[in-house]
Amino acid sequence: MKILANDGMAQAGIKVLEDSGFEVLTTRVAQEQLQNFINDNQINGLLVRSATQVRKDLIDNCPSLKLIGRGGVGMDNIDVEYAKGKGIHVINTPSASSSSVAELVFAHLFGGVRYLHDANRNMPLEGDSKFKQLKKSYAAGMELRGKTLGIIGFGRIGQATAKIALGVGMKVIYHDPFLEKASIELPFFDGRSLTFDFESQTKDELVSTADFITLHVPAQKSYVLGKKEFEQMKPGVGIVNAARGGVLDEVALVDALENGNVSFAGLDVYESEPSPEIRILMHPNISLTPHIGAATGEAQNRISTELAEQIITLLK
Ligand SMILES: NC(=O)c1ccc[n+]([C@@H]2O[C@H](COP(=O)([O-])OP(=O)(O)OC[C@H]3O[C@@H](n4cnc5c(N)ncnc54)[C@H](O)[C@@H]3O)[C@@H](O)[C@H]2O)c1
Repeated sequence: MKILANDGMAQAGIKVLEDSGFEVLTTRVAQEQLQNFINDNQINGLLVRSATQVRKDLIDNCPSLKLIGRGGVGMDNIDVEYAKGKGIHVINTPSASSSSVAELVFAHLFGGVRYLHDANRNMPLEGDSKFKQLKKSYAAGMELRGKTLGIIGFGRIGQATAKIALGVGMKVIYHDPFLEKASIELPFFDGRSLTFDFESQTKDELVSTADFITLHVPAQKSYVLGKKEFEQMKPGVGIVNAARGGVLDEVALVDALENGNVSFAGLDVYESEPSPEIRILMHPNISLTPHIGAATGEAQNRISTELAEQIITLLK
């Protein structure tokens, strides 16, 4: 059996597959050459991340394909139902990267409350000539401990984010129309654990009481945070979006940053990804990362081994 990992695969998963007798190709084949490559090499399993598109025509024209695997969560780049209708297994690794995304949320939050995003821009330029002025500009920092984190979307990543927040000493509230109640077990290093119970609040309640708001919803048809919600927020709130571009209205965000209602935002995903708006990129109160939520060695190892184990179960 041959597996093509077209958007890369961590060595850990390749080894699991090879030890089970699979041949793994890690050639990165261009989209327009993919059909020929799959047919010439009689590929049985195609593994992708978000870059490679697996659309109906590719599925129709590659009869050797038995499995399509997405390393990660969102399967927007795969015609999932169509492939399943043709008897092809379609798999993903929904929980492998939750902790990594949650940690990135806190990188943005911890950075935001101490102006790191701006200090890192200005220290190389003026750190030697205007040290005292910069020190003054960043003097109004804040602690996260004791503040309220509002989590919108309380699935895998939302709950992983809640765990870190609890560890930091924050109060956690959430809004999720599809999850009325939730219990979270917080394990500690020494084997002890504590369980916390939560109930979903309305979006209005969350938005008007949280000191910080983080989004963990799937792609939506309309904004989860738009003009109306920004107007309801507590003055000085911090916002993080590491979910999907388009769940937050970037124009309303910039307006709220300009009028001071939002103090900072941390963005990993963008409405016009992969070409974020220049107003977003240049804004001094936005901490920016280029969609790297799942980009840790640990997450990539878990993704690759989870894919490998599912492939072995399904194809051997
Ligand atoms: N930044 C990154 O690199 C990165 C990596 C992985 C996942 N993600 C994104 O993170 C998001 C969450 O992933 P997950 O694995 O936690 O998904 P999940 O399916 O486990 O959880 C999503 C939750 O959102 C809830 N939800 C749906 N619509 C909602 C709404 N309108 N308001 C409030 N809650 C709503 C669902 O009920 C569910 O509980 C997805 O958009 C995913 O694409 C980003």
